[in-house]
Amino acid sequence: GVAIGGVGLSQTGLPWGESATAGARLADPEALRSSGGILAVDLVAAHHRTSIAGRDARVLAYGESLPGRTWRVRPGDRIDVRLRNELDTPTNLHTHGLAVSPRGNGDNPFLSIDPGESIDYTFQLPEDHPTGVAWYHPHRHGTVADQLFGGLYGALIVEDDDVPASSERVLIISDITLTASGDVAPASQQDVMMGREGRLLLVNGQHRPLISARAGDIERWRVINACTSRYITFAVPGQELHLLGMDMGRASAPREISDVLLPPGGRADLLVALSPGTAEVQTLGYDRGGMGMMGGGLSGSAVLATLSVTGGNAAPPIGLADERDAPDLRGATIAGRREIAFTMSMGMRGRMMDMGFDGRAFDIDRIDQRVDAGAVEEWIISNPTPMDHPFHLHVWPMQVIEADGQALDEPTWRDVVNVPAQGRVRVLVDFSRNPGRSVYHCHILDHEDAGMMASVEVG
Ligand code: C2O
Ligand code: CU
Repeated sequence: GVAIGGVGLSQTGLPWGESATAGARLADPEALRSSGGILAVDLVAAHHRTSIAGRDARVLAYGESLPGRTWRVRPGDRIDVRLRNELDTPTNLHTHGLAVSPRGNGDNPFLSIDPGESIDYTFQLPEDHPTGVAWYHPHRHGTVADQLFGGLYGALIVEDDDVPASSERVLIISDITLTASGDVAPASQQDVMMGREGRLLLVNGQHRPLISARAGDIERWRVINACTSRYITFAVPGQELHLLGMDMGRASAPREISDVLLPPGGRADLLVALSPGTAEVQTLGYDRGGMGMMGGGLSGSAVLATLSVTGGNAAPPIGLADERDAPDLRGATIAGRREIAFTMSMGMRGRMMDMGFDGRAFDIDRIDQRVDAGAVEEWIISNPTPMDHPFHLHVWPMQVIEADGQALDEPTWRDVVNVPAQGRVRVLVDFSRNPGRSVYHCHILDHEDAGMMASVEVG
C-alpha cells in the first residue's frame, strides 16, 4: 500500500524495539479537584521532553506531564484557568463536552493566544450540568491537529455520586509518530487529506503500559479517544465490560458490551468487572473509508495495553439495577430543520483538497447558521464523501435520533457522532441555553484545520 501515517501498526521496521517499555505501569494522570465550588488551574502549553517507548522524545504538553492533569469537577462548579502559551504557534482552549457559555473568555473557539501570551478563562457549569467524561484541548483554527498530535490534551471529569466502583482510572488514548531524532513527525499532504494516524499508540502518554488490577473488583474506566484522526474500537477480550454512557450522555442503565467504537474525540464511561487472568486492551480496528488508493490500512487493530488481573475472586455482579431517566427531546416542538453536508472536492488554488461543509471552507468572519435562542432544532447531517467524518458540535447538547439508517429508541446524547461515508445521521439539538457563537466541525482534526468547520450563532 501507499505509505501514509498509520499504515503498519505492527512496529516492524521502526528503529527501536517494544521491549524497552513493556511492563511499565499505567500511570493515572494526577488529578486536580475543585474545592468550594471552584477549580483553579494554572495551565502552561509548552514543549516537553519525555520518554516514549524507551526513547527520548520532544513533544508538547500541558505542564510537566503528558497528558495534562485530570480536572475533576461537579455540576455547579466554576473552572478558572490561566493559560500561558509557551509554544511557537498560537493556541487557545476548548472544554470539549461542557455545555457552558461560548461568550467572552468562556468556551470561545475564536480566541487566539499568541506565543508568550496568557489568558484567563472562566467556565461556569450550571447546577444541572450532565455528568460524564469531557476533555480539554487546544482549538485555534489552523494549529489544532499539530498541537493535539504533539501531546496537548487532558481529561475533564464531571463527577456523579451514583455509580459504585472499587476504583477509577482515566485512559486517554492518543497516537504519535516520532522521527529518528525524537521529534514529532510533521504531517504530509496525504496525512492532511486522510487525517494523520501516528505509528505509536499511547495510553496516558505511555506505549503499551501494564494495568494491574484485582480480581473481584469493579473498576470504572473513563476512556477518551484523543487521537487526531484514528478511530478506536475499544475492547478487552476476556473481561466483562458494561457501558454506562458515552460522551456526556449516561444511558438509562448500564449495558454489557464486547466493544465500543470511539470516533476521534469520543469517550466511553465503562465499568469493568474483573476476573483473574491476563488480557489485552485493544482497538479492534475500523474501516473509515478513503480516497481511492489512499483508503487502505487506516485505524487498524492494535494492542493498547496489557491488563493483568490477580487474585482468585470471580467478577462480581454490577450493582446498578435502577433505571435512570435521561432527558429526551423527542416530543419537543421542533423550531426548525436544517441539512448540513460534509464536502470534499479537488482543490483550487494549489491545494490538494478543499474541505468544508456545504461546499464552503471555514471563514472566521462568516456566520453559517443562525438559530433562535431557546429553540430545539432537528439537524440532518449527511456525508456524501467516500470517508467517514466524526461530527462535533460545541456547547449545545445533541440527541442522536437516527444513525446507520436506524431510528434510536433510547435517548442517545453525544457530542461527537460518526457520520459514515455515504451515510447520514439525524440529531435534535437543544439551543435553550448558552446563547452566543461557536462551531461544529469534523473531529478528524486535520480536516478541521483544512476548513471542515462552520459557525453557529444562537441568540
Ligand atoms: Cu474536541 Cu471542537 O473539539
Ligand atoms: Cu473529516
